[in-house]
Amino acid sequence: MKAIVYTKYGPPDVLQLKEVEKPTPKDNEVLVKVHAASVNSWDWGLLRGTPFVNRLIVSGLFKPKYKILGCDIAGQVEGVGKNVKQFQPGDEVFGDLTECGFGAFAEYVCAPENALALKPASMTFEEAAAVPQAGLLALQGLRDKGKIQPGQKVLINGAGGGAGTFAVQIAKYFGAEVTGVDSTGKLGMLRSIGADHVIDYTQEDFTKNGQRYDLILDVVTYRSIFDYKRVLSPKGIYVMLGGGSWARVFQTMFLGPLISITGSKKMRILMHKPNKDLAFMSELFEAGKVVPVIDRRYPLSEAAEALRYFGEGHVRGKVVISVEHNNKT
Ligand SMILES: NC(=O)c1ccc[n+]([C@@H]2O[C@H](COP(=O)([O-])OP(=O)(O)OC[C@H]3O[C@@H](n4cnc5c(N)ncnc54)[C@H](OP(=O)(O)O)[C@@H]3O)[C@@H](O)[C@H]2O)c1
Repeated sequence: MKAIVYTKYGPPDVLQLKEVEKPTPKDNEVLVKVHAASVNSWDWGLLRGTPFVNRLIVSGLFKPKYKILGCDIAGQVEGVGKNVKQFQPGDEVFGDLTECGFGAFAEYVCAPENALALKPASMTFEEAAAVPQAGLLALQGLRDKGKIQPGQKVLINGAGGGAGTFAVQIAKYFGAEVTGVDSTGKLGMLRSIGADHVIDYTQEDFTKNGQRYDLILDVVTYRSIFDYKRVLSPKGIYVMLGGGSWARVFQTMFLGPLISITGSKKMRILMHKPNKDLAFMSELFEAGKVVPVIDRRYPLSEAAEALRYFGEGHVRGKVVISVEHNNKT
């Protein structure tokens, strides 16, 4: 089968399209013929070998342990191991392979059945590949850590990227009044997916405009934890998904629990649980409440270009990789 392989950390140029052995499912695994994958921050970090601590705990100190990148897949079941109960050949599935060895940027991949869910028939493979990681980061951040309630004022910082575009729509589904913060060119798109208010971070600092929010979901984390705390309502909750600045991430890790224990405002960090809520995301999609925003599509052979574009950091929604089989997608 064809796969995008890398053997050393580096820029997207280290990625190579190669012919490799097609995997065989173990007893608890499903063999998926991949039709689409999407790019996530995990892929970028694994490619670059950053942050360094991840080399120690996930990806290998000197060279990558996992040779094929890619977390999010959508495809068709081609074979199942003898202990697999939920799926059979022909089923259309999607899921996030973060906890089972990655490998989405290939024509086939094996995954344990608990990493997969049935894809709704009305969802294209490309849409399905966009959902697992970004969609669940948004959902779990808003619902599980953020305890979102109808009527709340919710601010999404970094609303125009992968997780943010899901978060805007999910927060609207939960009945919140949503403010999306991102760069100038993404504000129209944010309104089109339901944001009630938009703020251009290049023009205005939302921590200094006098507004207060019941819930802040932060995809980018460039500010001090005290700036976020100041703009929370008295019982407001701040949820950090990830960070543009590691200093800010560490500040939230160490000071967040202290602030939360000593006052009424809560400062939290999401620990994402892959695949837990895929069925719920399917329901939202089928009800027309959430539609994945796809910025660009690349064929598998151009995965390096897809990563390069993602690495520039200005993606509008998601970048998807379409996997062709015998010249058909
Ligand atoms: N907590 C967990 O368990 C977990 C697990 C996996 C991933 N993560 C994290 O989750 C996050 C997911 O991010 P993503 O894929 O949605 O990122 P993304 O697609 O890159 O989106 C980030 C958005 O933020 C915007 N932005 C940049 N600078 C900004 C600023 N100063 N203020 C406001 N917006 C700004 C970007 O727009 P422009 O650049 O065009 O301005 C972009 O639209 C990552 O940080 C990742 O590390 C967390």
